[in-house]
Order: sequence, then C-alpha cells, then structure tokens
Amino acid sequence: MGEMIKVIGVIGGGQMGSGIAQLGIVHGFHVYLLDNDPAALGKALHLISSSIQRLVSKGNLSQAERDEAMRRLRCTSSLDELRSCDFVVEAIVESEDVKKKLFSDLDGILKAPAILASNTSSISITRLASATRRPGQVVGMHFMNPPPVMKLVEIIRGADTSDETFSATKALAERFRKTVICSNDYSGFIVNRILMPMINEAFYTLYTGVATKEDIDTGMKLGTNHPMGPLELADFIGLDVCLSIMRVLQDGLGDAKYAPCPLLVQYVDAGRLGRKRGIGVYDYRKTPELVKP
Ligand code: 3HC
Repeated sequence: MGEMIKVIGVIGGGQMGSGIAQLGIVHGFHVYLLDNDPAALGKALHLISSSIQRLVSKGNLSQAERDEAMRRLRCTSSLDELRSCDFVVEAIVESEDVKKKLFSDLDGILKAPAILASNTSSISITRLASATRRPGQVVGMHFMNPPPVMKLVEIIRGADTSDETFSATKALAERFRKTVICSNDYSGFIVNRILMPMINEAFYTLYTGVATKEDIDTGMKLGTNHPMGPLELADFIGLDVCLSIMRVLQDGLGDAKYAPCPLLVQYVDAGRLGRKRGIGVYDYRKTPELVKP
C-alpha cells in the first residue's frame, strides 16, 4: 500500500499542515491542501513557496524541481475535492469533537482503501477511529514542528489499526526521509509524554523562584545540548498547546504529577500564548522576525 500512495490530502493550513504539504510535494506526491479559511490557505501557500525557494537558494533543489513541486500542490476549501486521495492527514485544531466530525465526513467521501491519519499531539487515535467505519485504516502520524526540518515522525497505532495501515504510513514517512518511532495509543504517546512534563517542570522551576527564565533555558540548552531551552520551546510550540497536552496527560494517566503549573495556566488565561501572539514566557514584540505567522 505504501508504494500505492500517490495523492495525499492535508487538512489544515497552519504551520503543521503547510509543513506536511511541503514534504509531500517535494517528495513527488500530489497534494491537496485544504483549509476552510481562504486567508489561511494564502498564508500556507506563501510559507510553502518561500520555504521551497530557500531549498533552491541552498542548492538542495533545482528551480525546475521547485516549479514541478509547486505544480503538484492544489489548495482547496472543498472536502469533496479530496475524493481521489490515497492518504489523508489532518492537522486541524486539537479538539476531539471537531476531529471526529471531520473523520466521519471524510469516511463518507474517500475511496474504500484510503487511509485516514491524524497529526494529533495527544488525542486518542482509537476514539478518532470510532467515528469512522474504517478503524483499521485510521492511524496517528505525529510530525514534529517544524515538519520540514525535524527528523522524526511518531506513528501511533490505535486499538484497531491494521498492520497494513501501519506499514503504509511508515513507508510514507520514510519517503519523506523521516525516522519513524511507533507508539501505542496512550495519552501523550512517546514524545509529548516525556517532553510536556519537562516543560511543565521548567514552569514550576520559574514559578517557585528557583531561577530566572534565562538561566533555566541556558541550563537545559548548554547543560543537556537541547537546541532550545524548555521555556523558549514552550513559546515556540504555543503555551495553549502545552497546557492542553498537560490536561490530556492528567486526565488520561490520572497522576497528580501531571497537574499543569499554575503559572502556565495563568499565562494562557492572560493570552500570553507564545511566539504566535508576540508574547509568552518571553516578549517577542521587539523581534517581529521571531513571531510565528
Ligand atoms: N520550515 C522550513 N524550514 C525551517 C523552518 C520552517 N518552519 N524553520 C527553520 N527552518 C530551517 C531553516 O531554513 C534552516 O535551514 P538551513 O540550516 O539549511 O539554513 C534550519 O531550519 C535552521 O533554522 P534557523 O537557522 O532559522 O534557526 P535554528 O538553527 O535556531 O533552528 C529550529 C530552528 C530548527 C526550530 C531549532 O531551534 C530546533 O530544532 N528547535 C527545537 C524544535 C523542537 O523541539 N520541535 C519539536 C517540538 S515538539 C512537537 O512538535 C510536538 C508537538 O505535538 C507539540
């Protein structure tokens, strides 16, 4: 099935969706990128086009290959256009109800063998699959942000995900030149199960006055060779996303150690969501190049 995938649908034109669409067209697939909001699609197209142009300026892609890749991309706001897709991956808002409704709609539109994947960071694949009549063909395909750069894809097997679906998804991720890890379907999977408590602990370290934000980040950057400190990374991911994943861990695993730090909750309540809002743990309003589109 992996080699049979030729047409991919990507739903959601945000950072993750546009990054996944970029991977698809650069690696030879036809991609439909869907978003209900035409402005979001316009932004996504701009992001993809400038990111691919960078590959050309670095000599990783010829101008002709770039043009070919861009021709393989179709932007749309109509779910019906995804009919011909062999594989659809969604990267929309982290809401179980919204994702379930989307999966149920897609189930009625896609051809029988098509696979439905979710880029969810922590929502149960088994529960998403229950909204379809093809639970064996539902899988988690969790890209890391930014998808074109990060080397990992985490594949999550729901309770009913078939071996064929897993193998096809793995083959696709490998066509994108990613290394694959496999997780069973428990809250937070592998990466966020470990990463988010670390970020939450960094908030507690700040909240309890152990150290400044700068020293916490420098400690983890230089002390453990992370590319970003945990607070800087939280701003990069989005504090609302971090908080919602902590709540999924707390609900799903039922251990008090997953309680979100009150400071993280307060920042989110105040609208300090990180780079996308210009302010999170750090203030980016004087460095607009760091504010995410
Ligand atoms: N799209 C495409 N390429 C991008 C990009 C994007 N959005 N952002 C950066 N790049 C490329 C740049 O073009 C550059 O390429 P080059 O080296 O070939 O010129 C390269 O990445 C490095 O970028 P920069 O020089 O601008 O900046 P840095 O060296 O500081 O790297 C970073 C930026 C790659 C984001 C790095 O800081 C990093 O790895 N940070 C940690 C990111 C991380 O941990 N992500 C995972 C978060 S967890 C997650 O996603 C799970 C979710 O469920 C929460």
